[in-house]
Amino acid sequence: MILLGPPGAGKGTQAERLQADFKLAHISTGDMLRKQVADGTELGREAKGYMDKGELVPDEVIIGMILQRIEEPDAREGFLLDGFPRNESQADALDAALRERGRRLSGVLMIEVPDDEVVRRLTGRRVCVKNPSHIYHVELDPPKHEDVCDQDGSRLIQRDDDKEETIRRRLEVYHGQTAPLIDYYDRTGLLRRFDGTRSPDEVHGHLRATAATLRLEDQL
Ligand code: AP5
Repeated sequence: MILLGPPGAGKGTQAERLQADFKLAHISTGDMLRKQVADGTELGREAKGYMDKGELVPDEVIIGMILQRIEEPDAREGFLLDGFPRNESQADALDAALRERGRRLSGVLMIEVPDDEVVRRLTGRRVCVKNPSHIYHVELDPPKHEDVCDQDGSRLIQRDDDKEETIRRRLEVYHGQTAPLIDYYDRTGLLRRFDGTRSPDEVHGHLRATAATLRLEDQL
């Protein structure tokens, strides 16, 4: 399955929960790239320049990384893509790769949130330095102790691209390059839409119910 939506829609927040519900591998291109940056690899150094400006990292870097990742053992029974695909050429590459391997998508879950809410969420987001799936918000979902992760006690940090100017650029890139995927997947009948302005628990309830039905339909 794919989780689609603008930056800050809650893809990472929901992926963490859906992964636990369905035992799917959570594949986040953003987290994979940030790990490369933290490890100081060549790929990380190249990607950081794009990420800090809110631009997409070139397709040739991303597509190879993802196609390799979906081959790993934990992804054999299914995976949840978060942050990929982000344009039509990435979607075409995924489609071709799945077809070649006799696999297919069960569904595309689209979380909708207006731009102003995205800015509010991302300027207040904090993430765990050790595990980026542990996500908080200074007002909307604060940790029990300021700047400390509830789940593992690590320090919470602000992402380099969560500055207002960069968030606005990420939104432009989303509307220009990623939003066309809504029609792309709507045409295949795989797209389901969700109101991302509801509480995380409500969004999760709706996503889980739909994902369960889609997976069941896929197995028939
Ligand atoms: P990436 O890391 O994928 O960032 P993104 O798509 O911009 O998404 P975010 O992680 O910012 O948001 P999210 O939807 O996961 O929201 P979250 O759950 O954290 O990509 C970063 C960069 O990497 C890109 O700009 C690009 O450069 C590069 N990149 C990545 N993939 C690429 C690709 N395929 N091709 C090319 N380049 C690529 O929630 C946000 C906040 O809201 C949190 O504080 C959370 O607590 C709060 N929140 C969540 N849900 C709710 C709710 N229901 N109500 C209230 N608050 C909520």
